[in-house]
Amino acid sequence: MAHNLLQGKRGIIFGALDERSIAWATALKCKEEGATFTLTNAPVAMRMGKIQELAEQCGGVEVIPADATSIDDLNNLFTKSMDILGGKIDFVLHSIGMSPNVRKNRKYNNLNYDWFLKTLDISALSFHKVMQVADKLDAINEWGSIMALSYIAAQRTFPDYSDMAQAKALLESIARSYGYFWAKKAKVRVNTISQSPTMTTAGTGVGGFDVFFDYADKMSPLGNASAEACADYIAMMFSDYTRMVTMQNLMHDGGFSTSGITEDLVNKLTGE
Ligand SMILES: NC(=O)c1ccc[n+]([C@@H]2O[C@H](COP(=O)([O-])OP(=O)(O)OC[C@H]3O[C@@H](n4cnc5c(N)ncnc54)[C@H](O)[C@@H]3O)[C@@H](O)[C@H]2O)c1
Repeated sequence: MAHNLLQGKRGIIFGALDERSIAWATALKCKEEGATFTLTNAPVAMRMGKIQELAEQCGGVEVIPADATSIDDLNNLFTKSMDILGGKIDFVLHSIGMSPNVRKNRKYNNLNYDWFLKTLDISALSFHKVMQVADKLDAINEWGSIMALSYIAAQRTFPDYSDMAQAKALLESIARSYGYFWAKKAKVRVNTISQSPTMTTAGTGVGGFDVFFDYADKMSPLGNASAEACADYIAMMFSDYTRMVTMQNLMHDGGFSTSGITEDLVNKLTGE
């Protein structure tokens, strides 16, 4: 059910690869809520993914390729987006994550350090780059909202999440630090959402994901939050109803992070 929450707002959405992506569900939700926006992804993902299909579903929105680690690409993205959308940007979704170490099954005690740096650059520093480019171009409207997606491995150890845990800790820290500067500059808020395990390309790339997904589902009184539920939350965070929420890591996990044990999990372990 739509509420026109984002009527008149302009945005940029990073990271829609295919219909399972959290950014894909978010784009559809933002469209439904009345926003206009551009879509972007890394040039390589453009070729492999289905972003053009999403662009059509959203009514023919523009797709602008950008490697989120490239300042030149980001400058081009923000400049073109303001041009196409007809003014400054009100919301940005950073929905980007990739670890070469995870992808190539390198264990945490046998990391390739060049890849580790790549993990940090793609999955965390890129968030700073997005904000610094937007800042220098003065591209965000007053009371704008900037979001990135995180995971609870930033606070607790999940062995197979490997160096992505450090990337998420850094991402959340960048949200707090840059959130200060954006608040002072233009009352713009910056937050991360810490999402449940979700069946996407990035998610299922983590070792043992199926077992882990089931465990998290049983450990969460409300069950795992879906990509669509996450999209609802993001739309609310882009709306005017959350203008005083900033520099936060917001748990969107069905209660996982504050549960010690659940009956569902006990029943599974005892075979009942
Ligand atoms: N799926 C989960 O279980 C889960 C849980 C919590 C948080 N997250 C986070 O949600 C976000 C979105 O992931 P998803 O689960 O929708 O998976 P996804 O694989 O659909 O999305 C990841 C996106 O990152 C993009 N990307 C990778 N390198 C890039 C680069 N250099 N420049 C620009 N884009 C690049 C990919 O092309 C892809 O579109 C990520 O930050 C991920 O860590 C996912």
